[in-house]
Amino acid sequence: MSKKIRCAVLGLGRLGYWHAGNLRYKIKDAELVVVVDPLEGRAEQVARELEVPRWSQNSDEVFEDPQIDAVAIVTPTTTHAELIKKAAKSGKHIFVEKPITHTLEEADEVIRIIKENRVFCQVGFMKRFDPNYVEAKRRIKAGDIGKPLYFKGITRDGKLPPKEFIQHSGGLFLDFSIHDYDIARFFLEAEVTSVTGLGSVIDKHYVAEFQDVDQALTYLTFDSGAAADLEASRNAAYGYDIRAEIMGTEGAIQIGSMQQHDLKILTKHGSTHDIYPDFPSQFLDAYHLEMVSFIESLQNNQKPVVDEYDGKVALEIAIKATESYRTHQTIQL
Ligand SMILES: NC(=O)c1ccc[n+]([C@@H]2O[C@H](COP(=O)([O-])OP(=O)(O)OC[C@H]3O[C@@H](n4cnc5c(N)ncnc54)[C@H](O)[C@@H]3O)[C@@H](O)[C@H]2O)c1
Repeated sequence: MSKKIRCAVLGLGRLGYWHAGNLRYKIKDAELVVVVDPLEGRAEQVARELEVPRWSQNSDEVFEDPQIDAVAIVTPTTTHAELIKKAAKSGKHIFVEKPITHTLEEADEVIRIIKENRVFCQVGFMKRFDPNYVEAKRRIKAGDIGKPLYFKGITRDGKLPPKEFIQHSGGLFLDFSIHDYDIARFFLEAEVTSVTGLGSVIDKHYVAEFQDVDQALTYLTFDSGAAADLEASRNAAYGYDIRAEIMGTEGAIQIGSMQQHDLKILTKHGSTHDIYPDFPSQFLDAYHLEMVSFIESLQNNQKPVVDEYDGKVALEIAIKATESYRTHQTIQL
């Protein structure tokens, strides 16, 4: 395909709005044709704001439109499987936010249908496209820290999503730690052999209503002999805090300083710096660059660099971590 990729964005909530803006204004080989959200007035408002020619409250209109080449599915996780199946069956390429689906059975089914219909699918693991993570990977490949042995990931947020979101999120292991499961595989270039999940409700007690936790820890072992620990938290009162570290035989790489701007404010009270307030500000470039990569792969008729199989592997680790937390058992994969 060398023409512009004609796209639709399904779901215009916290993240869909950013993907729509990137496709509309920042990716030269993409054309955002239509935006969809069933919420009364939302699609119309976004279409006006972003100057998108069409809007709809019904995703089926997109699947019936032969002019659309690709869809970005940015809807609640419980709706992903149905929308992926419809998109694949109507021959549309798919960008789907993480987690690929809510259950492993759904993941197997969508993988089969994607394959049968010969469409491409990219899963929204945007850290792989963040310039800092890309550089860390390059340094690991260059041998700068020797053989990677250990990965440590921290994902903390203080902004609480609405109850409705928590209810459909699949829980903290699935909603937050899944990014780190994927990036640990990416850096360590190894597959997970065992999963231990721990969790508590330590402050945001309403999540217990959905059998969820607000603080989680996952310990992973890998077939290379490497290991990892991953913290996820909804209790960061100070902002959005994403950090990572890869330790190797010859050194370590640390990613993330929490600072949104490279400034220190010095006053008679001491020295301070700002902190990223939320995920769109922390990953602004990554959300843009992952979509650039998706559109490029469609134009070059190549499989996206992070695909439905990566989506399923990370989902499986997240489901096993949740099960491990609930059963107090380490689970072998
Ligand atoms: N990669 C990341 O960093 C990241 C960050 C946030 C959310 N997410 C993922 O993105 C997805 C959406 O999350 P969010 O925070 O934007 O949720 P949200 O609840 O803010 O927005 C979801 C939107 O989808 C709409 N919607 C529901 N069913 C629909 C359908 N069938 N067709 C079209 N629109 C529909 C809703 O009306 C809502 O406006 C989730 O899967 C979440 O896990 C990923």
